[in-house]
Amino acid sequence: MAVLEIHKAGDPVLKKVCEPVKRIDKKVKRILKDMAETLYKTKNGIGLAAPQVGILQRIVVIDLQDGNGLLELINPVITKKEGSQVVGEGCLSVPNFEGEVERAVYVECEYTDASGKKQFIATEGLLAICLQHETDHLDGILFTDKAVTITLKAPED
Ligand code: NI
Repeated sequence: MAVLEIHKAGDPVLKKVCEPVKRIDKKVKRILKDMAETLYKTKNGIGLAAPQVGILQRIVVIDLQDGNGLLELINPVITKKEGSQVVGEGCLSVPNFEGEVERAVYVECEYTDASGKKQFIATEGLLAICLQHETDHLDGILFTDKAVTITLKAPED
């Protein structure tokens, strides 16, 4: 396993549309493990998309740190969205900023898990927001592209 470098806003890799994963082989499983390790190494990260570590494949890891553990999503697609809310967001690739973004309240998401099984999530709350934020990354979209307000974060530590 390895902690990968997180690419920051301004890096063209973050603006690219990622390719779907065709086969879940050793390489993809390694990417999932490395992404999880990279996510857990961050201070407050709850999600990481593959382009953030320079990999242009449709892979996402999420851990809301709520005791539900790690979600590994391959080729996630949001198939339904309902409602609208404006929420505060940040991003590991835009470390010094936070912003308010309009997101759906409820989403349904289909994806393939690390064992190759098709999975389905229907959810609201933080997971719904995180799924929208991370799947945007796979299409080269950062929250700052959509934000209605962007503010400089108060320095931490
Ligand atoms: Ni992000």
